[in-house]
Amino acid sequence: MVVQRVKSEFGKRFEGEIKFFRGMMDGPKQVGAILPTSSVTARRMASVINPASGLPVLELGPGTGSITKAILQRIEPKKLVSVEYSDDFYNHLTKLYPGVNFIRGDAFQLDDILGDYASAKFDCIISAIPMLNFPVEARKDLLESLLDRVPAGNPVVQISYGPVSPIGPRPGKYIIKHLDFVMRNIPPAQLWTYRRPAQ
Ligand SMILES: C[S@@+](CC[C@H](N)C(=O)[O-])C[C@H]1O[C@@H](n2cnc3c(N)ncnc32)[C@H](O)[C@@H]1O
Repeated sequence: MVVQRVKSEFGKRFEGEIKFFRGMMDGPKQVGAILPTSSVTARRMASVINPASGLPVLELGPGTGSITKAILQRIEPKKLVSVEYSDDFYNHLTKLYPGVNFIRGDAFQLDDILGDYASAKFDCIISAIPMLNFPVEARKDLLESLLDRVPAGNPVVQISYGPVSPIGPRPGKYIIKHLDFVMRNIPPAQLWTYRRPAQ
């Protein structure tokens, strides 16, 4: 009895990590990290949301849902649109967070997959897409498409693990800022924001 309970508690505690490793085995290039994002990092990323705007939030690459959880501490599930490429993660997330608008699809094809939200404005965009695994031009094009979906001055937040922004500058087009360096993440995480100049 006790052993079974311990096993089940252990299973629950590490469910996210186990899912993550399965995802890693299936598509290491798409997953692009070694463990789920820490709660400290997730909360820092979600801190950019302005719930008072009333606008929905767009999340890219939710994976096991650690950032999703932090976002849901700030807004209602129906205000979150979240795009995940992997079937396994998508199926897991739809059970874990009912009410969130999860979309199974490719974040690089947002016009084709966002449906009713294709021309929506979002309060901000929170991305865990493993940018460094994609070609430089594709990263810049994705960022431009994201910035078109938030009001000028509002942020796109990106997590990355390298020392510099994973998306290079395009002078006059957007402003890159370092939001934070979070040691309590494996590996330690760099957080970046991108904004169009406010008008
Ligand atoms: C670094 S992991 C995210 C980790 C997540 N924050 C967590 O704690 O589990 C990157 C995620 O982005 C997803 N992903 C990668 N490429 C994608 C794409 N083109 N479109 C949508 N999701 C993508 C992966 O399937 C994976 O779930």
